[in-house]
Parts: sequence; C-alpha cells; structure tokens
Amino acid sequence: MRFANKTCIVTGGGSGIGKATCLQMAAEGGRVVVADLDLGSAQATAGAIAAAGGTAIAVQADVGNSSAVQAVVAEAVAKYGAIDVVVNDAALMKFGPIADIAEADFFATLTVNLGSVFFFSKYGVAHMGPGSAFVNVSSVHAYATSPNVVAYASSKGAIEAFTRGFALEMQPRNIRVNAVAPGSVDTPMLWNNPNVKSGVEKLEGPIGKPEDLSSAICFLASDDARFITGATLLVDGGRLAKLP
Ligand SMILES: NC(=O)c1ccc[n+]([C@@H]2O[C@H](COP(=O)([O-])OP(=O)(O)OC[C@H]3O[C@@H](n4cnc5c(N)ncnc54)[C@H](O)[C@@H]3O)[C@@H](O)[C@H]2O)c1
Repeated sequence: MRFANKTCIVTGGGSGIGKATCLQMAAEGGRVVVADLDLGSAQATAGAIAAAGGTAIAVQADVGNSSAVQAVVAEAVAKYGAIDVVVNDAALMKFGPIADIAEADFFATLTVNLGSVFFFSKYGVAHMGPGSAFVNVSSVHAYATSPNVVAYASSKGAIEAFTRGFALEMQPRNIRVNAVAPGSVDTPMLWNNPNVKSGVEKLEGPIGKPEDLSSAICFLASDDARFITGATLLVDGGRLAKLP
C-alpha cells in the first residue's frame, strides 16, 4: 500500500495511462483526485475506484488554464488537507507542418502539455511536504519524431528539461520530480494519431498497455524511487533501441 494516506492528483485521469494510474494508486491506498477536461470520464474513473472500495473525487479542469489548475489544487487541499503526488499526464496532439500549422494550435499544444506542468508545479508545491513527488509524462517524441509533430515533440522535450531543472529546485525540500517517456501505448491518443492512421509513423515495436505505464509512474511516485530525481524513465518496450 505505497500510497496509503497520500493524496494523488492525476491529470488526464479519465482515459488511457492517466486512468490506469488513478486505478493503481487507489488500489495501493491513495486518495485520488481525478482531473480531466472531460468530466464524464473523470467521474467514471472515480466511480470505478469507489466501486472497488477506494477513495477518489472527479474534477473537471482544462489543465492548460492557470485558474482551472489553481481550482484543482484548492479542491484537493480542501478535501484531503495536503498533496503528496502530482502526475501530469494530460496532453494534446496537434498536427501540421510548421509552415502551415495555426499559431493557436502550436501554442495550445505547448500550453496544455508544458504549461500544465508549470501550473501544477507552481501552485501545487506550496501544499506538498518532504517525501512528495511529481511525475510528468513525456514521450518518445522527445527523442525521435515523425513529420508534422513539431509542436507535440517540442512540448515533450521541454517537459524533460523542466523536470531536471525543477528537481534541482526541489532537492532541498526533499520533493522529487521525475518523468516517464512512453513508447506506443494502446489508448485513444495512439489510434487517433493521423500519422499512425496513415502509416507515416510505423508501430513496429511492441505496443504497451496503459498498466505498463502506470506501474512505472507509481514506482517513480512512491518511496521505492526515493533516490531518483530529475530523471526520465524510458518506458517503450525497447522501441527506441532499434535502428529503423
Ligand atoms: N498512447 C501513447 O502511445 C503515448 C505515447 C507517448 C506519450 N503518451 C503520453 O501519455 C499521456 C496520456 O496519453 P494517453 O495515451 O493515455 O491518452 P488518452 O487520449 O487516452 O487520455 C488523455 C486524457 O487527457 C485528457 N485531456 C486532454 N486535454 C486536456 C486538458 N486540456 N485538460 C485536462 N485533461 C485533458 C483527455 O480528456 C483524456 O482523458 C499524454 O501525456 C501523452 O502525450 C502517450
């Protein structure tokens, strides 16, 4: 029960990797704040946790919006008193060549993916004590990418740099900050990717399950990883190890 008496905020908790993380943290004793743009899916995750005897609340939030993030933090603190774990999982993929992509789409990608990490770090940390942890969700696109994905790939590369730098700032407070970089994972985001649909991005390696990622996220969020901070754990089933 690695998350007993711990309050865990998970963004994107309504689907895929975020949902699996919510379910695992709750099964290990955590009080889970399921935050998602889609309230219905957040409520479904919280409902599944309650049905299994766990503790969770669902909160609707656009994590690219500072006020919305501050409201999630305030609700978590009002309900449970403090925050022990933040998993920044929610993300957006917008596609298009740089010459054509709308400015609004480029900056929306940065704001939801990277801005959310900034907002939860800035406003969450005031309520987090020694032993707390952040886990940010990056992607293999931080290292290798396909055409028309510059906005998303840039946001993921920046998340890893943010993770290293914020980890240093948090070291004196014994708050750890790490990231995971998933490979291909069987979620709606993977199958909605136009490059995957068209075959431009080939899924030659193994495809992971959301639980393959939640186990890595829970490890980094737990005291089992007490000597790990500033790191990004590649969780891709070996996809990047192979030369194309
Ligand atoms: N699935 C993959 O193959 C893969 C690969 C690499 C990285 N990732 C990363 O894993 C994370 C989770 O993705 P997933 O595959 O589980 O996707 P998913 O589509 O199953 O879930 C994403 C969730 O985020 C929510 N969301 C989107 N925008 C939001 C916003 N502005 N505010 C709040 N919630 C928002 C969605 O409603 C959804 O519930 C993302 O950071 C993604 O970039 C996924």
